[in-house]
Amino acid sequence: MYNDNPTIKNIDESKQGDAFFNEQIATNTSDNNKKFYIESYGCQMNFSDSEIVASILSDIGYSSTRDMEESDLILINTCSIREKAEDTVRKRLRIFDKLKDNKPGILVGVLGCMAERLKKKLLEQEKLVDLVVGPDAYRELPNLIATAEDGDKGINVFLSREETYANINPVRLGSNGVTAFVTITRGCDNMCSFCVVPFTRGRERSRDPFSILAECKDLFDRGFREVTLLGQNVDSYKWENPDTKENVDFADLLEMTAKINSDLRIRFSTSHPKDITDKVLFNISKYENICNYIHLPVQSGNSNILKKMNRTYDREWYINKINRIYEIIPDCAISSDMIAGFCGETEKEHQDTLSIMELAKYSMSYMFFYSERPNTLAHKKYEDDISLEIKKRRLNEIIRLQQQLSYQHNKKEVGKIHKVLIEKESKKSKNDLAGRTSQNKMVVFPREEAKIGTYVNVKINDFTTATLKGELVQ
Ligand code: SAH
Ligand code: SF4
Ligand code: F3S
Repeated sequence: MYNDNPTIKNIDESKQGDAFFNEQIATNTSDNNKKFYIESYGCQMNFSDSEIVASILSDIGYSSTRDMEESDLILINTCSIREKAEDTVRKRLRIFDKLKDNKPGILVGVLGCMAERLKKKLLEQEKLVDLVVGPDAYRELPNLIATAEDGDKGINVFLSREETYANINPVRLGSNGVTAFVTITRGCDNMCSFCVVPFTRGRERSRDPFSILAECKDLFDRGFREVTLLGQNVDSYKWENPDTKENVDFADLLEMTAKINSDLRIRFSTSHPKDITDKVLFNISKYENICNYIHLPVQSGNSNILKKMNRTYDREWYINKINRIYEIIPDCAISSDMIAGFCGETEKEHQDTLSIMELAKYSMSYMFFYSERPNTLAHKKYEDDISLEIKKRRLNEIIRLQQQLSYQHNKKEVGKIHKVLIEKESKKSKNDLAGRTSQNKMVVFPREEAKIGTYVNVKINDFTTATLKGELVQ
Protein backbone atom coordinates (compact mmCIF):
# COMPACT_ATOMS: atom_id res chain seq x y z
CA MET A 1 0.00 0.00 0.00
CA TYR A 2 1.40 3.34 -0.85
CA ASN A 3 0.43 6.84 -1.62
CA ASP A 4 0.93 7.80 -5.23
CA ASN A 5 1.95 11.37 -5.11
CA PRO A 6 2.62 12.94 -1.74
CA THR A 7 4.05 16.35 -1.19
CA ILE A 8 7.73 16.86 -0.75
CA LYS A 9 10.13 19.69 -1.09
CA ASN A 10 13.59 18.68 -2.18
CA ILE A 11 16.52 20.99 -1.83
CA ASP A 12 19.86 19.63 -2.98
CA GLU A 13 22.43 21.11 -0.63
CA SER A 14 25.06 18.55 -1.55
CA LYS A 15 25.71 20.09 -4.91
CA GLN A 16 26.84 23.66 -4.88
CA GLY A 17 25.57 25.73 -7.74
CA ASP A 18 22.71 23.48 -8.68
CA ALA A 19 20.54 23.77 -5.59
CA PHE A 20 17.03 22.99 -6.64
CA PHE A 21 13.68 23.12 -5.05
CA ASN A 22 10.97 20.77 -6.00
CA GLU A 23 7.36 20.64 -4.94
CA GLN A 24 4.71 18.06 -5.53
CA ILE A 25 1.05 18.04 -4.72
CA ALA A 26 -0.50 15.30 -2.72
CA THR A 27 -3.35 12.97 -3.24
CA ASN A 28 -3.93 10.61 -0.37
CA THR A 29 -5.36 7.14 -0.55
CA SER A 30 -6.09 6.42 3.11
CA ASP A 31 -6.87 8.86 5.81
CA ASN A 32 -6.45 9.16 9.56
CA ASN A 33 -7.11 12.87 9.13
CA LYS A 34 -3.43 13.56 9.81
CA LYS A 35 -1.17 15.30 7.35
CA PHE A 36 2.60 15.41 6.99
CA TYR A 37 4.81 17.93 5.29
CA ILE A 38 8.39 17.00 4.30
CA GLU A 39 11.45 18.85 3.04
CA SER A 40 14.58 17.05 1.84
CA TYR A 41 18.15 18.32 1.67
CA GLY A 42 21.37 16.67 0.56
CA CYS A 43 22.25 14.00 -1.93
CA GLN A 44 20.03 11.80 -4.04
CA MET A 45 20.22 9.10 -1.36
CA ASN A 46 18.31 11.42 0.94
CA PHE A 47 15.69 12.16 -1.71
CA SER A 48 15.28 8.42 -2.16
CA ASP A 49 14.96 7.90 1.58
CA SER A 50 12.18 10.51 1.72
CA GLU A 51 10.32 8.30 -0.77
CA ILE A 52 10.68 5.40 1.68
CA VAL A 53 9.50 7.61 4.57
CA ALA A 54 6.47 8.72 2.54
CA SER A 55 5.61 5.08 1.92
CA ILE A 56 5.88 4.19 5.64
CA LEU A 57 3.74 7.19 6.66
CA SER A 58 1.14 6.48 4.05
CA ASP A 59 0.81 2.95 5.46
CA ILE A 60 -0.30 4.44 8.78
CA GLY A 61 -2.80 6.67 7.05
CA TYR A 62 -0.95 9.95 6.87
CA SER A 63 -1.66 12.04 3.81
CA SER A 64 0.73 14.68 2.61
CA THR A 65 0.43 18.40 2.20
CA ARG A 66 2.48 21.11 0.53
CA ASP A 67 1.24 23.59 3.09
CA MET A 68 3.14 23.20 6.35
CA GLU A 69 0.57 25.31 8.17
CA GLU A 70 -2.11 22.68 7.72
CA SER A 71 0.16 19.75 8.64
CA ASP A 72 0.24 17.76 11.89
CA LEU A 73 3.80 16.55 11.33
CA ILE A 74 6.69 18.48 9.80
CA LEU A 75 9.69 16.40 8.72
CA ILE A 76 13.04 17.66 7.53
CA ASN A 77 15.41 15.14 5.95
CA THR A 78 18.82 16.62 6.58
CA CYS A 79 22.40 16.68 5.26
CA SER A 80 25.66 17.14 7.17
CA ILE A 81 28.16 17.07 4.32
CA ARG A 82 29.25 20.70 4.76
CA GLU A 83 28.65 23.29 7.46
CA LYS A 84 26.43 25.28 5.10
CA ALA A 85 24.07 22.33 4.71
CA GLU A 86 23.54 22.18 8.47
CA ASP A 87 23.12 25.97 8.71
CA THR A 88 20.32 25.80 6.15
CA VAL A 89 18.50 23.17 8.24
CA ARG A 90 18.80 25.24 11.41
CA LYS A 91 17.32 28.23 9.56
CA ARG A 92 14.37 26.10 8.50
CA LEU A 93 13.90 24.93 12.12
CA ARG A 94 13.56 28.61 13.16
CA ILE A 95 10.70 28.95 10.66
CA PHE A 96 9.02 25.80 12.01
CA ASP A 97 9.48 27.17 15.53
CA LYS A 98 7.38 30.22 14.70
CA LEU A 99 4.64 27.98 13.34
CA LYS A 100 4.69 25.89 16.51
CA ASP A 101 3.93 29.00 18.55
CA ASN A 102 0.56 29.23 16.78
CA LYS A 103 -0.04 25.50 16.55
CA PRO A 104 1.38 23.86 19.70
CA GLY A 105 0.23 20.30 18.84
CA ILE A 106 2.25 20.10 15.65
CA LEU A 107 5.18 17.63 15.72
CA VAL A 108 8.58 18.44 14.21
CA GLY A 109 10.94 15.62 13.23
CA VAL A 110 14.55 15.75 12.06
CA LEU A 111 15.52 12.84 9.82
CA GLY A 112 18.69 11.83 8.01
CA CYS A 113 22.35 12.63 8.40
CA MET A 114 22.16 15.56 10.81
CA ALA A 115 19.89 13.52 13.09
CA GLU A 116 22.49 10.76 13.02
CA ARG A 117 25.47 13.07 13.57
CA LEU A 118 24.02 15.06 16.47
CA LYS A 119 21.73 12.44 18.04
CA LYS A 120 20.45 13.53 21.47
CA LYS A 121 22.32 16.83 21.20
CA LEU A 122 19.82 17.91 18.58
CA LEU A 123 17.00 17.60 21.14
CA GLU A 124 19.02 19.69 23.61
CA GLN A 125 19.99 22.33 21.04
CA GLU A 126 16.66 22.58 19.24
CA LYS A 127 13.88 22.59 21.80
CA LEU A 128 11.11 22.43 19.19
CA VAL A 129 12.26 19.07 17.81
CA ASP A 130 10.05 16.13 18.87
CA LEU A 131 11.57 13.37 16.73
CA VAL A 132 15.16 12.53 15.82
CA VAL A 133 15.40 9.64 13.39
CA GLY A 134 18.58 8.37 11.73
CA PRO A 135 18.70 6.95 8.18
CA ASP A 136 18.44 3.30 9.25
CA ALA A 137 15.49 3.77 11.65
CA TYR A 138 12.63 4.85 9.38
CA ARG A 139 10.65 1.66 10.00
CA GLU A 140 10.38 2.86 13.61
CA LEU A 141 8.69 6.13 12.59
CA PRO A 142 5.12 5.00 13.47
CA ASN A 143 6.20 4.08 17.04
CA LEU A 144 8.29 7.22 17.44
CA ILE A 145 5.40 9.39 16.28
CA ALA A 146 3.14 7.67 18.84
CA THR A 147 5.73 8.37 21.56
CA ALA A 148 5.91 12.03 20.56
CA GLU A 149 2.10 12.28 20.51
CA ASP A 150 2.18 11.13 24.13
CA GLY A 151 4.41 14.08 24.93
CA ASP A 152 7.82 12.36 25.04
CA LYS A 153 10.68 12.85 22.63
CA GLY A 154 11.03 10.10 20.01
CA ILE A 155 14.59 9.22 19.11
CA ASN A 156 16.17 6.35 17.19
CA VAL A 157 19.59 6.74 15.64
CA PHE A 158 20.56 3.10 15.58
CA LEU A 159 22.76 2.33 12.56
CA SER A 160 22.14 -1.09 11.10
CA ARG A 161 24.44 -3.51 9.30
CA GLU A 162 21.52 -5.06 7.43
CA GLU A 163 18.78 -2.51 6.76
CA THR A 164 18.31 -1.86 3.03
CA TYR A 165 14.52 -1.21 3.05
CA ALA A 166 14.49 -3.85 0.31
CA ASN A 167 10.80 -4.73 0.71
CA ILE A 168 9.48 -1.17 0.90
CA ASN A 169 7.98 0.10 -2.31
CA PRO A 170 9.09 3.75 -2.42
CA VAL A 171 6.56 6.41 -3.31
CA ARG A 172 7.88 8.24 -6.37
CA LEU A 173 7.90 11.82 -5.18
CA GLY A 174 7.76 14.60 -7.74
CA SER A 175 8.14 12.01 -10.42
CA ASN A 176 8.13 12.85 -14.12
CA GLY A 177 6.98 9.26 -14.71
CA VAL A 178 10.03 8.61 -16.92
CA THR A 179 13.15 8.54 -14.71
CA ALA A 180 13.55 7.07 -11.22
CA PHE A 181 16.24 6.39 -8.63
CA VAL A 182 16.74 2.92 -7.18
CA THR A 183 18.98 2.50 -4.13
CA ILE A 184 21.35 -0.49 -4.39
CA THR A 185 23.76 0.09 -1.51
CA ARG A 186 23.55 2.01 1.77
CA GLY A 187 26.38 3.39 3.91
CA CYS A 188 30.06 3.71 3.06
CA ASP A 189 33.20 1.91 4.22
CA ASN A 190 35.72 4.26 2.60
CA MET A 191 36.95 6.57 5.27
CA CYS A 192 37.83 9.58 3.06
CA SER A 193 39.36 11.89 5.64
CA PHE A 194 37.16 14.92 4.86
CA CYS A 195 33.87 13.06 4.81
CA VAL A 196 31.11 12.71 7.38
CA VAL A 197 29.08 10.10 5.45
CA PRO A 198 30.61 6.94 7.02
CA PHE A 199 29.55 8.34 10.41
CA THR A 200 26.06 9.39 9.38
CA ARG A 201 25.16 6.45 7.16
CA GLY A 202 27.10 3.62 8.75
CA ARG A 203 28.63 0.52 7.23
CA GLU A 204 28.22 -0.31 3.61
CA ARG A 205 25.65 -2.97 2.73
CA SER A 206 24.25 -4.17 -0.58
CA ARG A 207 20.61 -4.75 -1.32
CA ASP A 208 19.33 -8.12 -2.55
CA PRO A 209 19.61 -8.01 -6.39
CA PHE A 210 16.25 -9.70 -6.87
CA SER A 211 14.44 -6.90 -5.04
CA ILE A 212 16.39 -4.37 -7.16
CA LEU A 213 15.41 -6.14 -10.38
CA ALA A 214 11.78 -6.42 -9.25
CA GLU A 215 11.67 -2.68 -8.51
CA CYS A 216 13.24 -1.80 -11.88
CA LYS A 217 10.90 -4.13 -13.75
CA ASP A 218 7.88 -2.68 -11.96
CA LEU A 219 9.03 0.83 -12.92
CA PHE A 220 9.40 -0.23 -16.55
CA ASP A 221 5.93 -1.79 -16.55
CA ARG A 222 4.54 1.49 -15.19
CA GLY A 223 6.05 3.43 -18.10
CA PHE A 224 9.37 4.54 -16.62
CA ARG A 225 12.22 4.38 -19.13
CA GLU A 226 15.31 5.16 -17.05
CA VAL A 227 16.62 4.02 -13.67
CA THR A 228 19.64 5.40 -11.83
CA LEU A 229 21.21 2.84 -9.49
CA LEU A 230 22.21 4.72 -6.36
CA GLY A 231 24.83 4.32 -3.67
CA GLN A 232 27.74 6.24 -2.14
CA ASN A 233 30.03 3.84 -3.94
CA VAL A 234 28.05 1.66 -6.34
CA ASP A 235 31.10 -0.15 -7.71
CA SER A 236 31.65 -1.93 -4.42
CA TYR A 237 28.20 -3.54 -4.67
CA LYS A 238 28.58 -7.16 -3.58
CA TRP A 239 25.96 -9.71 -2.73
CA GLU A 240 26.26 -13.41 -1.97
CA ASN A 241 23.35 -15.70 -2.65
CA PRO A 242 22.77 -17.45 0.70
CA ASP A 243 21.64 -20.67 -1.03
CA THR A 244 24.05 -21.06 -3.94
CA LYS A 245 26.91 -18.95 -2.47
CA GLU A 246 27.18 -17.30 -5.88
CA ASN A 247 28.42 -13.71 -5.91
CA VAL A 248 26.82 -10.80 -7.71
CA ASP A 249 29.11 -7.80 -8.25
CA PHE A 250 28.24 -4.37 -9.67
CA ALA A 251 29.10 -5.36 -13.25
CA ASP A 252 26.75 -8.37 -12.94
CA LEU A 253 23.99 -6.18 -11.50
CA LEU A 254 24.38 -3.69 -14.35
CA GLU A 255 24.06 -6.51 -16.86
CA MET A 256 21.01 -7.96 -15.11
CA THR A 257 19.20 -4.59 -15.08
CA ALA A 258 20.19 -3.86 -18.69
CA LYS A 259 18.58 -7.14 -19.76
CA ILE A 260 15.16 -6.23 -18.26
CA ASN A 261 14.35 -4.41 -21.48
CA SER A 262 16.54 -2.69 -24.07
CA ASP A 263 14.20 0.31 -23.79
CA LEU A 264 15.09 0.81 -20.13
CA ARG A 265 18.08 3.10 -19.75
CA ILE A 266 20.45 2.39 -16.87
CA ARG A 267 22.53 5.04 -15.10
CA PHE A 268 24.45 4.79 -11.85
CA SER A 269 26.00 7.06 -9.22
CA THR A 270 28.49 7.39 -7.59
CA SER A 271 31.58 5.51 -8.72
CA HIS A 272 34.71 5.54 -6.62
CA PRO A 273 37.74 5.55 -8.95
CA LYS A 274 39.43 2.76 -7.00
CA ASP A 275 36.53 0.33 -7.47
CA ILE A 276 35.35 0.78 -11.06
CA THR A 277 36.56 -2.32 -12.92
CA ASP A 278 37.19 -3.21 -16.56
CA LYS A 279 34.28 -5.63 -16.23
CA VAL A 280 31.98 -2.66 -15.50
CA LEU A 281 33.45 -0.68 -18.41
CA PHE A 282 33.03 -3.61 -20.83
CA ASN A 283 29.40 -4.02 -19.80
CA ILE A 284 28.74 -0.31 -20.37
CA SER A 285 30.26 -0.70 -23.81
CA LYS A 286 28.37 -3.94 -24.55
CA TYR A 287 24.83 -2.75 -23.69
CA GLU A 288 23.48 0.23 -25.61
CA ASN A 289 20.99 0.95 -22.81
CA ILE A 290 23.69 1.36 -20.13
CA CYS A 291 24.47 5.04 -20.51
CA ASN A 292 27.89 6.24 -21.59
CA TYR A 293 28.33 8.48 -18.62
CA ILE A 294 30.42 8.03 -15.48
CA HIS A 295 30.53 10.32 -12.47
CA LEU A 296 34.05 9.67 -11.16
CA PRO A 297 34.90 12.22 -8.43
CA VAL A 298 38.62 13.03 -8.31
CA GLN A 299 38.46 15.47 -5.30
CA SER A 300 42.04 16.67 -6.00
CA GLY A 301 44.58 16.28 -8.80
CA ASN A 302 47.57 16.14 -6.47
CA SER A 303 48.95 12.86 -5.10
CA ASN A 304 50.00 14.31 -1.74
CA ILE A 305 46.54 15.81 -1.13
CA LEU A 306 44.86 12.61 -2.33
CA LYS A 307 46.92 10.68 0.21
CA LYS A 308 45.88 13.06 2.99
CA MET A 309 42.28 12.70 1.82
CA ASN A 310 42.67 8.92 2.10
CA ARG A 311 41.29 8.44 -1.40
CA THR A 312 43.63 5.41 -1.93
CA TYR A 313 44.61 6.38 -5.51
CA ASP A 314 47.16 8.88 -6.75
CA ARG A 315 47.22 11.28 -9.70
CA GLU A 316 48.86 8.84 -12.08
CA TRP A 317 46.50 6.02 -11.16
CA TYR A 318 43.46 8.25 -11.73
CA ILE A 319 44.77 9.46 -15.11
CA ASN A 320 45.31 5.83 -16.17
CA LYS A 321 41.73 5.04 -15.16
CA ILE A 322 40.41 7.97 -17.23
CA ASN A 323 42.47 6.80 -20.23
CA ARG A 324 41.12 3.27 -19.81
CA ILE A 325 37.52 4.58 -19.79
CA TYR A 326 38.06 6.55 -23.02
CA GLU A 327 39.79 3.50 -24.56
CA ILE A 328 36.90 1.11 -23.83
CA ILE A 329 34.03 3.64 -24.23
CA PRO A 330 35.34 6.33 -26.61
CA ASP A 331 32.24 8.54 -26.44
CA CYS A 332 31.88 8.32 -22.65
CA ALA A 333 31.24 11.57 -20.77
CA ILE A 334 32.99 11.77 -17.42
CA SER A 335 32.06 14.18 -14.63
CA SER A 336 33.66 14.85 -11.26
CA ASP A 337 33.63 16.41 -7.79
CA MET A 338 36.44 18.70 -6.64
CA ILE A 339 37.32 20.13 -3.22
CA ALA A 340 39.33 23.37 -3.17
CA GLY A 341 41.57 24.34 -0.24
CA PHE A 342 41.90 21.07 1.66
CA CYS A 343 44.22 21.18 4.70
CA GLY A 344 47.72 22.38 3.79
CA GLU A 345 46.99 22.61 0.04
CA THR A 346 49.72 24.66 -1.67
CA GLU A 347 49.27 26.76 -4.78
CA LYS A 348 51.11 24.14 -6.81
CA GLU A 349 48.91 21.37 -5.47
CA HIS A 350 45.85 23.41 -6.44
CA GLN A 351 47.30 23.81 -9.96
CA ASP A 352 47.42 20.00 -10.17
CA THR A 353 43.64 19.93 -9.70
CA LEU A 354 43.22 22.37 -12.59
CA SER A 355 45.53 20.36 -14.84
CA ILE A 356 43.87 17.01 -14.11
CA MET A 357 40.50 18.58 -15.02
CA GLU A 358 41.92 19.45 -18.44
CA LEU A 359 43.40 15.99 -18.89
CA ALA A 360 40.13 14.30 -17.91
CA LYS A 361 38.05 16.66 -20.09
CA TYR A 362 35.14 16.55 -17.65
CA SER A 363 31.72 17.24 -19.16
CA MET A 364 30.64 18.82 -15.86
CA SER A 365 31.59 18.90 -12.20
CA TYR A 366 30.28 19.60 -8.71
CA MET A 367 32.75 21.93 -7.03
CA PHE A 368 33.16 22.84 -3.36
CA PHE A 369 35.57 24.45 -0.98
CA TYR A 370 36.68 22.38 1.97
CA SER A 371 34.42 22.53 5.02
CA GLU A 372 35.83 20.87 8.13
CA ARG A 373 33.44 18.35 9.68
CA PRO A 374 33.65 17.44 13.37
CA ASN A 375 35.20 14.05 14.24
CA THR A 376 36.32 13.22 10.71
CA LEU A 377 39.89 11.95 10.20
CA ALA A 378 40.93 15.27 8.67
CA HIS A 379 39.54 17.17 11.65
CA LYS A 380 41.58 15.00 14.01
CA LYS A 381 44.77 14.93 11.98
CA TYR A 382 45.17 18.13 9.96
CA GLU A 383 44.74 21.81 10.49
CA ASP A 384 42.07 23.56 8.42
CA ASP A 385 44.66 26.21 7.57
CA ILE A 386 43.64 27.60 4.19
CA SER A 387 41.86 30.93 4.60
CA LEU A 388 38.29 31.27 3.37
CA GLU A 389 39.48 33.91 0.92
CA ILE A 390 42.01 31.55 -0.68
CA LYS A 391 39.55 28.64 -0.67
CA LYS A 392 37.01 30.78 -2.51
CA ARG A 393 39.54 32.09 -5.02
CA ARG A 394 40.73 28.56 -5.82
CA LEU A 395 37.17 27.34 -6.09
CA ASN A 396 36.40 30.16 -8.53
CA GLU A 397 39.36 29.14 -10.69
CA ILE A 398 38.06 25.56 -10.70
CA ILE A 399 34.54 26.71 -11.61
CA ARG A 400 35.79 28.97 -14.39
CA LEU A 401 37.87 26.17 -15.90
CA GLN A 402 34.96 23.74 -15.73
CA GLN A 403 32.78 26.25 -17.58
CA GLN A 404 35.34 26.34 -20.38
CA LEU A 405 35.59 22.53 -20.44
CA SER A 406 31.79 22.15 -20.52
CA TYR A 407 31.64 24.69 -23.34
CA GLN A 408 34.25 22.78 -25.37
CA HIS A 409 32.54 19.47 -24.59
CA ASN A 410 29.19 20.78 -25.84
CA LYS A 411 30.68 22.52 -28.87
CA LYS A 412 31.84 19.12 -30.16
CA GLU A 413 28.23 17.92 -30.19
CA VAL A 414 27.10 20.39 -32.88
CA GLY A 415 26.13 18.52 -36.04
CA LYS A 416 25.84 15.14 -34.24
CA ILE A 417 22.64 13.13 -33.92
CA HIS A 418 21.77 11.84 -30.43
CA LYS A 419 19.20 9.39 -29.14
CA VAL A 420 17.30 11.35 -26.48
CA LEU A 421 14.88 10.05 -23.86
CA ILE A 422 12.23 12.78 -23.49
CA GLU A 423 11.65 13.64 -19.82
CA LYS A 424 9.58 16.79 -19.71
CA GLU A 425 8.39 20.00 -21.25
CA SER A 426 11.08 22.66 -21.43
CA LYS A 427 10.90 25.15 -18.56
CA LYS A 428 11.23 28.06 -20.96
CA SER A 429 8.68 27.16 -23.61
CA LYS A 430 5.63 24.93 -23.88
CA ASN A 431 6.52 24.38 -27.52
CA ASP A 432 9.80 22.68 -26.57
CA LEU A 433 10.58 19.33 -24.95
CA ALA A 434 13.68 18.36 -22.97
CA GLY A 435 15.50 15.09 -22.44
CA ARG A 436 18.98 13.67 -22.03
CA THR A 437 21.52 11.99 -24.24
CA SER A 438 23.27 8.82 -23.16
CA GLN A 439 26.12 11.12 -22.03
CA ASN A 440 23.72 12.82 -19.61
CA LYS A 441 23.48 16.09 -21.52
CA MET A 442 20.19 17.95 -21.46
CA VAL A 443 18.83 18.64 -24.96
CA VAL A 444 15.97 21.05 -25.74
CA PHE A 445 14.14 20.81 -29.08
CA PRO A 446 10.82 21.83 -30.71
CA ARG A 447 8.09 19.47 -29.66
CA GLU A 448 6.45 18.59 -33.02
CA GLU A 449 4.59 15.29 -32.48
CA ALA A 450 7.05 13.83 -29.93
CA LYS A 451 5.81 12.41 -26.60
CA ILE A 452 7.30 12.47 -23.11
CA GLY A 453 8.68 9.04 -22.15
CA THR A 454 9.73 8.07 -25.70
CA TYR A 455 13.07 8.01 -27.48
CA VAL A 456 13.76 10.35 -30.39
CA ASN A 457 16.74 11.26 -32.55
CA VAL A 458 17.81 14.86 -32.20
CA LYS A 459 20.33 16.69 -34.36
CA ILE A 460 22.30 19.23 -32.31
CA ASN A 461 22.42 22.74 -33.81
CA ASP A 462 23.37 24.98 -30.91
CA PHE A 463 24.51 24.91 -27.28
CA THR A 464 25.30 26.75 -24.04
CA THR A 465 27.63 25.49 -21.28
CA ALA A 466 24.64 23.72 -19.67
CA THR A 467 22.30 22.69 -22.51
CA LEU A 468 22.28 21.42 -26.08
CA LYS A 469 19.67 22.63 -28.56
CA GLY A 470 18.51 20.69 -31.57
CA GLU A 471 15.77 19.45 -33.87
CA LEU A 472 14.02 16.14 -34.39
CA VAL A 473 15.31 13.94 -37.22
CA GLN A 474 14.37 10.43 -38.37
N1 SAH B 1 30.29 8.99 -2.24
C1 SAH B 1 30.55 10.03 -3.12
C2 SAH B 1 30.49 11.41 -2.52
C3 SAH B 1 29.39 11.82 -1.63
S1 SAH B 1 29.54 13.43 -0.96
C4 SAH B 1 31.96 9.86 -3.63
O1 SAH B 1 32.81 9.32 -2.97
O2 SAH B 1 32.22 10.35 -4.70
C5 SAH B 1 29.53 14.45 -2.41
C6 SAH B 1 30.73 15.32 -2.55
O3 SAH B 1 30.78 16.28 -1.50
C7 SAH B 1 32.09 14.63 -2.45
O4 SAH B 1 32.45 13.99 -3.63
C8 SAH B 1 33.01 15.77 -2.12
O5 SAH B 1 33.49 16.40 -3.27
C9 SAH B 1 32.10 16.74 -1.36
N2 SAH B 1 32.45 16.78 0.06
C10 SAH B 1 32.36 15.77 0.96
N3 SAH B 1 32.80 16.18 2.17
C11 SAH B 1 33.16 17.48 2.03
C12 SAH B 1 33.70 18.46 2.91
N4 SAH B 1 33.98 18.18 4.18
N5 SAH B 1 33.93 19.70 2.42
C13 SAH B 1 33.67 20.00 1.13
N6 SAH B 1 33.17 19.11 0.26
C14 SAH B 1 32.92 17.87 0.69
FE1 SF4 C 1 32.45 10.07 1.67
FE2 SF4 C 1 34.51 8.92 0.50
FE3 SF4 C 1 32.40 7.46 1.20
FE4 SF4 C 1 32.20 9.18 -0.82
S1 SF4 C 1 33.51 7.35 -0.76
S2 SF4 C 1 30.75 8.90 0.84
S3 SF4 C 1 33.53 10.84 -0.17
S4 SF4 C 1 33.81 8.50 2.58
FE1 F3S D 1 24.45 14.76 2.90
FE2 F3S D 1 24.03 12.50 4.12
FE3 F3S D 1 23.93 12.62 1.49
S1 F3S D 1 25.56 13.98 4.65
S2 F3S D 1 25.35 14.26 0.98
S3 F3S D 1 22.57 13.63 2.88
S4 F3S D 1 24.63 10.91 2.70
